Amino acid sequence: MSDFKCEKVLPYADGGSKTKQITEMFDHIAGQYDRMNRLMSLGQDRVWRRKAIDALEVCHPKRVLDVATGTGDFAIAVAERLKPERVLGVDLSQEMMNVGKGKVAERGLSDVVDFTQGDSTDLRLEDASFEAVTVAFGVRNFSSLEKGLKEINRVLVGGGMLAILEMTEPNNALLRLGYKVYTKLCLPVMAKLFAKDLKAYDYLPASIQAFPKDDEMRNLLKMCGFQSVEIRKFTMQTCSLYLACK
Ligand SMILES: C[S@@+](CC[C@H](N)C(=O)[O-])C[C@H]1O[C@@H](n2cnc3c(N)ncnc32)[C@H](O)[C@@H]1O
Repeated sequence: MSDFKCEKVLPYADGGSKTKQITEMFDHIAGQYDRMNRLMSLGQDRVWRRKAIDALEVCHPKRVLDVATGTGDFAIAVAERLKPERVLGVDLSQEMMNVGKGKVAERGLSDVVDFTQGDSTDLRLEDASFEAVTVAFGVRNFSSLEKGLKEINRVLVGGGMLAILEMTEPNNALLRLGYKVYTKLCLPVMAKLFAKDLKAYDYLPASIQAFPKDDEMRNLLKMCGFQSVEIRKFTMQTCSLYLACK
């Protein structure tokens, strides 16, 4: 199994395995996650999800798995835009999914969108059971990136599509400087003013910095059984969309 730097970045200095710490962190911030997400991404997170969903339209998926679904925004947007028969959201954090369940019920989507607690690195789902898999801002938190991507590949049907959104440091030096100013100056101020768990917002830029660069991600996706890997960049290269087919 390959090791990646981001797997070693933990939210809390002492407190058990990455999986345990990530579960606790998201359980803790679930109530304010959506508000902080919107604020810190300057409202761009919705635009990025929409672009990822646009890219999946070609495969007309009937069954979609949203890994690291959190409060369900990607699962809900997929259900509304692509009109599949079923969307299943999987997440470590029950508290995040409880927020998601409320939103799904409010939108009258309970017949389509379902949630289940689970770990992406050990999905309790059948082989070849989804036409598309989505992951937004989740892979950076996996305890093993390789295991998680191999599991996703296993549950996809042949020809099925994967769309991963992840926060990334810009490749361009000037954009990277702007990004550093934002994460070192603006982000801490926002976190101090609005966040409940300051460590969670220290973990964010640290884990983004440790995330594999484009070539490494491309190679890893291929090694995990994906083809036709494409990487698109949004909002001054701060968000990457990785598209791939099984
Ligand atoms: C930043 S949130 C993203 C939530 C949502 N996808 C969105 O677009 O807002 C990351 C989520 O990934 C979940 N997560 C992290 N590692 C996971 C894993 N190994 N398996 C399942 N969920 C995981 C966390 O519990 C958290 O809810």
